[in-house]
Amino acid sequence: MKLPQRVTICEVGTRDGFQIEPEFIPTDVKVEVVDLLTEAGVPRIEVTSFVHPKAVPQLRDAETVMARIRRRPGTQYAALVPNEKGAVRAVDAGVDALHTVLSASESHNLANVNMTIAESVEKMGAVLAVAARARVAVSCGISTSFGCPFEGEVPISRLQSIVARLADMGAQAFGLADTTGMANPRQVAAVLEHLVPRFPGVEWTLHTHDTRAMAIPNILAAMECGVVNFDSSIGGLGGCPFAPGASGNVCSEDLVHALHAMGVETGIDLDRLIAVSRRVETVIGRALPGQIIKAGPWTRRYPLPDGVAARLAPAR
Ligand code: COA
Ligand code: ZN
Repeated sequence: MKLPQRVTICEVGTRDGFQIEPEFIPTDVKVEVVDLLTEAGVPRIEVTSFVHPKAVPQLRDAETVMARIRRRPGTQYAALVPNEKGAVRAVDAGVDALHTVLSASESHNLANVNMTIAESVEKMGAVLAVAARARVAVSCGISTSFGCPFEGEVPISRLQSIVARLADMGAQAFGLADTTGMANPRQVAAVLEHLVPRFPGVEWTLHTHDTRAMAIPNILAAMECGVVNFDSSIGGLGGCPFAPGASGNVCSEDLVHALHAMGVETGIDLDRLIAVSRRVETVIGRALPGQIIKAGPWTRRYPLPDGVAARLAPAR
């Protein structure tokens, strides 16, 4: 397999995950989880979103969370923003990077941000300008890139034209999001083989949801196409409130475990990451979908059963 030596993980659990939790997660807990992720060595964290507090009341404390987290130099603290107002709020709150959001399908874009795709694209100009003035990075996220829960298939040509228009406006980084886990590895490869050579110099991120258990296979396909940036969510939290059937992102500790097992570096301390996941399970009061938290890493060994130990002994 053609795998990279190292990839960059962006943890999105405190945004994509906490936004859909039925109970409001207390601000103190959000801050604690971000700090634990920082200590585990996660290089990028999408801390929260600066959206309308009525649209996503769970993240109405975005400013306070940003103000109270302990920031480690070198770690990138980002936030999701849907429009200029969100971008200004995020920059004022001191984020290092803006992750914008628009959808590749009209129906999901209207449901999510109350704009047509054309309106969203046009308004992205103002967001890019806010970021440029503040000298913060921007990555343009494109939801439903691999399929829409309302419309079904999303043509690659539509994705290409959205990327092209945003690139013309100065965007240099894109996050392709599989919002409701509709993508399969062949499709991911086909989309990337089409887009990557057409936009040289662009940084691509794959944002996966494990709704249909294809997230890690999709990430493998993307790595073989040269993508080295992946979003994931602690414990496998996550889901879009405006996309029916949405469920958790690829689980961070499962992904990090899989990457390390294959010799791909992340710079993340897996044991500490698993400890964060345990803490999040306690906070939300239910088991999360991750596997490694239950199975332990592949290096885990069990004591031999009695009879087996006795019969092995002479051979040793
Ligand atoms: N943060 C806070 N308030 C905002 C805002 C933002 N980012 N963007 C707009 N507003 C306020 C405006 O100031 C205005 O307030 P006013 O009525 O007091 O003047 C009001 O919201 C309406 O503004 P408008 O631009 O018409 O927004 P809208 O009602 O069409 O909503 C969004 C658009 C994008 C703000 C809203 O749909 C949203 O926040 N969606 C969240 C999407 C999301 O997080 N999805 C999950 C992740 S993918
Ligand atoms: Zn998502």
